[in-house]
Amino acid sequence: MISTITMKWDGKSLELIDQRKLPLVEEYVKCGTSDCVAHAIKDMIVRGAPAIGASAAFGYVLGAIENRSNLTLIAMKEVKHKLATTRPTAVNLFWALERMHSKFLELYSDKNENEVIEILKIEAEKIAEEDMEINKRMGNFGQELFSNDATVITHCNAGALATVDYGTAVGVIHAALDHGKKIHAYVDETRPYLQGARLTAWELLKLGVDTTLICDNMAGWVMKTRKVDAIIVGADRIAANGDTANKIGTYSLALIAKKHGVKVYVAAPLSTIDVSIQDGSKIPIEERSHDEVTQIRGVKIAPENVKVYNPAFDVTDAELVDAIITERGVLRYPYTESISKVFK
Ligand code: MRU
Repeated sequence: MISTITMKWDGKSLELIDQRKLPLVEEYVKCGTSDCVAHAIKDMIVRGAPAIGASAAFGYVLGAIENRSNLTLIAMKEVKHKLATTRPTAVNLFWALERMHSKFLELYSDKNENEVIEILKIEAEKIAEEDMEINKRMGNFGQELFSNDATVITHCNAGALATVDYGTAVGVIHAALDHGKKIHAYVDETRPYLQGARLTAWELLKLGVDTTLICDNMAGWVMKTRKVDAIIVGADRIAANGDTANKIGTYSLALIAKKHGVKVYVAAPLSTIDVSIQDGSKIPIEERSHDEVTQIRGVKIAPENVKVYNPAFDVTDAELVDAIITERGVLRYPYTESISKVFK
């Protein structure tokens, strides 16, 4: 059983808060099938790397339940493929599906269908529970980087909603508050999907953080003219050399931060680090619908036939990142060494 703001799992269905409607409407979508979970990931009902991973794990279990009468390797490969072809960038999705599928491979030839399904349920719940625990550990390591009165800028949503609970970058802010620190957070609205304005501002206000919403193109000016100590963001995939894919706009933020002596921190679990990829150039970048750029909440804001480019993520070069906060501690540049050490 899992019950958080982001997701609720009762062994038979997965309820996901509909993140497309927040903060105006708090409504859950109930998924009783793997198709429904795949659709929820693709359609951004659930989003954020660790939340996508955990949802896919539960989707895999629902796929096994659907195939109870014919629980074959072919059937489960299809379930895995359906869930894996939803979003390409966040590696947690593939990590969670690999973990579920390896469990299935270990079991299916000598256990009966019911036993296999029960063990898969336990594995998916473990992924979700571990995520919550890992985020708290990351928070504790990360908060040590902040002074007692720190001002940060955060981008996109790396809060409880982007994970099973607690968050990665927002988890660090949460932990800092729990340690009695005062944090002022500037939140980038995060065009075009507005995860910052809609989700992060909502979460930070609920935590009691002194929160100021800015448009993405204001961040440079804020760093130049006001006190900003650090940028803190999550990640969707980190290559073996520390190059970090995160929401589009993170790269520009990091470049501007360097110019102004502002620290750049990435908070991400080890499941976000893809050691099979040498550097950021190999990270697949999702391109999303042009409507996200030409419309705001269904209202057209651009001329009809204008060309549009809408990459959902960018890659920040490792040397621009001052620290990667993980559940095993704070990693420092050069990341090729610190990452390989932590994976030994
Ligand atoms: O497109 P999204 O909303 O899924 O993008 C999410 C992000 O870029 C987050 O910053 C990232 O997944 C880290 S979440 C802990």
